[in-house]
Amino acid sequence: MTANTIDHNRARYNFEGIESVWLFGYGSLIYKVDFPFLEQRPATIRGWARRFWQGSHDHRGTPEAPGRVVTLIEQPGARCKGMAYRVSPNVFEYLDVREKNGYLRFSTTMTFDDGSHAEGLVYIATEDNEAFLGEAPEADIAAQIAAAAGPSGPNSEYLLRLAESLRALGDDCVHTFAIETHLLGNEPVAVKDR
Ligand code: BEZ
Repeated sequence: MTANTIDHNRARYNFEGIESVWLFGYGSLIYKVDFPFLEQRPATIRGWARRFWQGSHDHRGTPEAPGRVVTLIEQPGARCKGMAYRVSPNVFEYLDVREKNGYLRFSTTMTFDDGSHAEGLVYIATEDNEAFLGEAPEADIAAQIAAAAGPSGPNSEYLLRLAESLRALGDDCVHTFAIETHLLGNEPVAVKDR
């Protein structure tokens, strides 16, 4: 799978006759909301874990020094908290370009805080995409993020804004907060205390 997913995404869903679609955001879509939406609700998806395992050559790094951004990894029992937006289908014309570096749209079921559910879409960078970097120790991920910057700004800003947004949502994303702790130069919290 090439890193540029614009054409793949455009061929994946036929939105004809559909007025609005729920989109689940778990990364920059939580805090960088530069698209119109009809409704916004905190939500959770099950069976997926947020991980800084996707390379960013176009936004938060460069081809020579890629940054790291989040994707979702399948993990039974996991829950990923994020923000859901009900959007007009034409919003995907913009988002497919914004998130072109390896992310494909997948169907998902999201659960809102009141326990109700909706079907919608989520962007996921699977491990067969060229920009996938994969697992690494959280301290190494923090060091890579600290050193990377791209056209959208420092990679550290991405991490810190995401961590702040997750805190505001009341999420306890152990992975994100551990990397944040390393980046800020604090002692990582022992796993048993998390
Ligand atoms: C998200 O926030 O859901 C997201 C952002 C960028 C790429 C993929 C997903």
